[in-house]
Amino acid sequence: MLPQSAHIVCYSPKHRPAIRQILVTIGWEERYIQGQLEAVETLARDAEHGGVWVAQVGDSIGGYVSLQFYDWNRLAQLHGLAVDPIFRRLGLAAALVQQAEEFARQKGGRGVYVDTPVSNTGARLFYLAQGYVQDYVMTAYYDDDLDGVTFLKLFNSSP
Ligand SMILES: CC(C)(COP(=O)(O)OP(=O)(O)OC[C@H]1O[C@@H](n2cnc3c(N)ncnc32)[C@H](O)[C@@H]1OP(=O)(O)O)[C@@H](O)C(=O)NCCC(=O)NCCS
Repeated sequence: MLPQSAHIVCYSPKHRPAIRQILVTIGWEERYIQGQLEAVETLARDAEHGGVWVAQVGDSIGGYVSLQFYDWNRLAQLHGLAVDPIFRRLGLAAALVQQAEEFARQKGGRGVYVDTPVSNTGARLFYLAQGYVQDYVMTAYYDDDLDGVTFLKLFNSSP
């Protein structure tokens, strides 16, 4: 259950160092961190199509999610999601994703999709637990030897 001291709030640039620290802590390569942080800034500035939220736990930032909404097909894409290992399995990611889904629903969206490496068992189980279904595998999406898998939640087919 979400700790009482946890709140989901909109991203502001003051959260950037904390997001960077989470990504360093979980061992991401610098090129991926840079890409994430650039996407976070871009999406946070685009109030029409982008959204970034952080999970504040007391004085700490426990995690973040970023999302982009596409007008052309009314689907939203989760661009980034990570929770600090010390705050895992408390429901932070579920609360962050619910916030992002709510944004997509308010835009009139049909659903949300997300890509993750096939090797990311924790994330795959997390998305299944949130009602996403596994869709397609894209060969070499992340690197020559790392395929990606897309998970999709269509609002009309989900409870
Ligand atoms: C995946 C991740 C975001 C989940 O964050 P979290 O805050 O721990 O997730 P939640 O507490 O909201 O989990 C909700 C449910 O999802 C499932 N779940 C989450 N992590 C899981 C794991 N590692 N193994 C199995 N099931 C998991 C469980 O059903 C869980 O409910 P439960 O704790 O009551 O069993 C986190 O492990 C993480 O940051 N991983 C590294 C970065 C990453 O992989 N990001 C996603 C890339 S697309």
